[in-house]
Amino acid sequence: MTEIKDKTELIEWFRASTTYINAHRGKRFVVLLSGEALADKNLPNLVCDLTLLHSLGIKLVLVHGARPQIAQALEKNGSQSSYHKNVRITEAESIETIMRVVGGESAKLEALFSMGISNSPMQGSNIRLVRGNFVTAKPLGIINGVDYHYTGTVRKIQTQAIEQQLAQNNIVLLSNLGYSLTGEVFNLTAEEVATEAAIKLQVDKLILLIPQAGVIDDNGELVASLSEEDARLYADKLSQGDDDSKSISRALRACLQAYSNDVHRCHLISFKDNGSLIRELFTREGNGSLISSDNFDNLRAATIEDVTGILKLIKPLEEDGSLVERSRELLENEIGNFKIVELEGAIIACAALYPNGEEFGEVACIAIDSHYRKNGYGERLLASLETEARKKSLKKLFVLTTVAAHWFIERGFNEEALSELPEQRQQLYNFQRKSKVLIKKL
Ligand SMILES: CC(C)(COP(=O)(O)OP(=O)(O)OC[C@H]1O[C@@H](n2cnc3c(N)ncnc32)[C@H](O)[C@@H]1OP(=O)(O)O)[C@@H](O)C(=O)NCCC(=O)NCCS
Repeated sequence: MTEIKDKTELIEWFRASTTYINAHRGKRFVVLLSGEALADKNLPNLVCDLTLLHSLGIKLVLVHGARPQIAQALEKNGSQSSYHKNVRITEAESIETIMRVVGGESAKLEALFSMGISNSPMQGSNIRLVRGNFVTAKPLGIINGVDYHYTGTVRKIQTQAIEQQLAQNNIVLLSNLGYSLTGEVFNLTAEEVATEAAIKLQVDKLILLIPQAGVIDDNGELVASLSEEDARLYADKLSQGDDDSKSISRALRACLQAYSNDVHRCHLISFKDNGSLIRELFTREGNGSLISSDNFDNLRAATIEDVTGILKLIKPLEEDGSLVERSRELLENEIGNFKIVELEGAIIACAALYPNGEEFGEVACIAIDSHYRKNGYGERLLASLETEARKKSLKKLFVLTTVAAHWFIERGFNEEALSELPEQRQQLYNFQRKSKVLIKKL
């Protein structure tokens, strides 16, 4: 019995993944595999999952680091790793060892991606991983009297060359090594290479694999969605912790840097959990932390000054019956429930969340100016309301809609009977409008 149930669940999940497969096809992701991820026993599974992404038409740029491997090799050689402000100082005598270690790690990854043995899920995948001098570096130099020698920083990402490789269906592999115009090799941070690659290529996602499920709050709960401000606070706090915390802090700073340069979807996912990448990308619940786009395109909580702009935005939609009418007084009283998107001084989108009892939240008055539709504003507002609802510990969202039922269904809502709503809301139902009742479990 259980076995059949599991199979049914598997089939349902596979069907449900169609939306995500279609959404991700042809998209470009930068994925950072830290040195810690390369040393983890889950690495072969991760490689299988990356192969699956590639097979589904996702263009991948992988960036790997080798921080613990380098530290170990230098220690073995009797050289001390010295750091200043958490940045390794790479002495001339260390760079040879670093080149050997990083090259070795790249080769190990190439070998894993080449695996095509008959009993592995990668049989027949025939993946081509391409390495090259795609990252031009320059020395970090002497800062406050400290000479960083062969520690470098990214000068240029050879985007055209990378694009050509992606167009030929190759996976591009970058590392924490960069090459200067003087012909020298520099030791960079893999986080910087990944972030710069994501920004310069303007990829659809930056994915950073970290040692835990995502950002974990003080109650031990996973923070599925973070605002930019939350990400900054966690990055500061975690930078004071142990090695794992520090690596999560670095990943968060990489996300923040990418965000402020228009890479709006940055995920932090565990490299230890088998299948975490698949769950994050192909299930609605996800399985990591995503820095939310709340602070982009000026998505923010509405204030009393926004009432006139919101009224202007929703008036035509009230007139055509898509939205119920709201008076200025009502809007002024309820403005605390609204979020808006402001563009060059005009309010181009709004949505509201009305908590209803301890369990339910009502999504209402979601409206995007007709000139700005199909740009993802509706989706971002809804995601922002969901984050807000989760913060308020609500369990379900509902919406009453006459014209946008499919839009909500495609975003995880299900049509339900009116009797599923809180009693007091049922009593306010307008039978003339015949709105559909849609509910989403959070
Ligand atoms: C529904 C609405 C909020 C979507 O906002 P948006 O910013 O355009 O949405 P997104 O960019 O996130 O998504 C766009 C996708 O949704 C689709 N979509 C838009 N309206 C839809 C609807 N009523 N039913 C089904 N799909 C719809 C678009 O076709 C587009 O998909 P495509 O690119 O595959 O063609 C917007 O169209 C709107 O303001 N409509 C009028 C007001 C309204 O009906 N509000 C709902 C009241 S409950």
